[in-house]
Amino acid sequence: MSTMREKIEQLRELREKVKLGGGVKRIESQHKKGKLTARERLALFFDPGTFRELDSFMLHRCTDFGVDKTKIPGDAVVTGYGLVNGRLVFAYAQDFTVLGGSLGEVCAQKICKVMDLAMQNGAPIVGFNDSGGARIQEGVLSLSGYGEIFYRNTIASGVIPQIAAIMGPCAGGAVYSPGIMDFTFMVENTSYMFITGPQVIKEVTSEEVSFEDLGGASVHTSKSGVAHFTAKSDEECIDMIKKLLSYLPSNNLEEPPYVEPTEETHRLIPELEDIVPVESTKPYDMKEVINYVVDKGSFFEVQPNFAPNIIVGFARIAGKVVGIVANQPKEAAGTLDINASVKAARFVRFCDSFNIPIVTFVDVPGFLPGVNQEHDGIIRHGAKLLYAYSEATVPKITVIVRKAYGGAYIVMGSRHLRADFVFAWPTAEVAVMGPQGAVNILYRKQLAEVDNPEEERKRLIDEYTAKFANPYKPAEYGFVDQIIEPAETRIHINDALEALKNKRANLPPKKHGNIPL
Ligand code: HXC
Repeated sequence: MSTMREKIEQLRELREKVKLGGGVKRIESQHKKGKLTARERLALFFDPGTFRELDSFMLHRCTDFGVDKTKIPGDAVVTGYGLVNGRLVFAYAQDFTVLGGSLGEVCAQKICKVMDLAMQNGAPIVGFNDSGGARIQEGVLSLSGYGEIFYRNTIASGVIPQIAAIMGPCAGGAVYSPGIMDFTFMVENTSYMFITGPQVIKEVTSEEVSFEDLGGASVHTSKSGVAHFTAKSDEECIDMIKKLLSYLPSNNLEEPPYVEPTEETHRLIPELEDIVPVESTKPYDMKEVINYVVDKGSFFEVQPNFAPNIIVGFARIAGKVVGIVANQPKEAAGTLDINASVKAARFVRFCDSFNIPIVTFVDVPGFLPGVNQEHDGIIRHGAKLLYAYSEATVPKITVIVRKAYGGAYIVMGSRHLRADFVFAWPTAEVAVMGPQGAVNILYRKQLAEVDNPEEERKRLIDEYTAKFANPYKPAEYGFVDQIIEPAETRIHINDALEALKNKRANLPPKKHGNIPL
């Protein structure tokens, strides 16, 4: 009988073997593609020495098509938990060196185990995806594995943050797990996501397209909106995920992490007086406004390249985490279109799920007019944003910076959708539409009859502006709580956040609403 020492030696040897996954050659090939291995990714992600691997001796049970010759301990995924900046996180990383990271029964069981643990213990789950998809040899067992993962993704939605990193192929129905998760990261040039690949597309529609142009990082972060962040390398991607986690609570029963502020809370910001042009059609960069108001360097933008006419992201104000939603007058005049509505709606719902107060900066001329927008369902999609703001019960603070016209005024966190505090700058204009458009509609006949229509138009525009396009009318009705100087914006937002710290607001009991999807 072997001694304890011998058994320990045997375990150590096995452990070393496990670490090699599919072997040295395949690790080298992974590195040649510019990718880290599953274990290297996890080692970088977790605080040194804190990663605890689970199920590293599980073996697949498949005997078909000779796959039984490739029985590698742990199969094609590494799972476990550890600390990220001192906080508990569960994770899985698909191992491309083992059967191309393909997902069979055992891989799914391992992933489901850490998902269940994350749910039960109220900690985020992060998945590093790098896989050839459903393991062909395991047939319906791989499909059922995906089904189990998707179900858990859905049930965990709004309970724990779910983050997907795409660091290699992610094809077929496999994309639906990242698709349900809260945030998806992609690595440039090494990752792609699609339902059907270039070959199938060529056969079915005769379209020719490369992997990158079909489902690469830039496509999904700028065109489709499927992914939220792109990184230049695995290393950068991992750093970005850690940064994102620093803004998020571990679960829906916790508050987001507070950090001791390093700068003065009640500081005036005179620079804000020089950013916004009074002429309501002149563009400017709303990100400048945001960056001045929030704690220096704390703004972390989400989906910066998709629907840039609306800005969403996390920031801190005097150490308190907030979700920022803002129109961007520099892009498409800050109009709300389908993509902007969907982008902001999902962000608002995330913040509401995870107790993150929403600060909205408004400068919006309205919804984007156009046949395409109408035919593609701007009514349905715009309603998503309206719905998301209405049902959000977290503190909601709105600053009307300049224009707030028409339906877009209502949608962008107005009092009517239960904003807790609405502030307006002196430049704010709240009206059914801009002066130009209003005068053209109201006085078309009158202008056609006068001798000097341009002079008359100007007079009418001035009259309309004085009457409607200012913050005093909505303040008169109490729809704006206070008209503030731009320099005081940070102070007012901070004090409002403090006042709303213990906000209690409940919606009527129901199974769930029916958001227009
Ligand atoms: C079994 C797989 C596999 C899979 C790859 N491999 N994908 N084994 N099932 N789905 C194996 C390969 O046979 C190979 O084994 C090893 O993994 C590495 O793959 P390579 O092809 O050599 O790597 P590479 O050239 O980098 O190409 C990667 C790839 C390609 C583009 C992902 O492997 C590929 O096209 N795979 C199939 C992708 C796919 O169609 N999957 C099904 C999608 S449908 P050896 O031993 O030769 O090295 C789907 C449905 C999900 O996933 C449904 C959820 C509801």
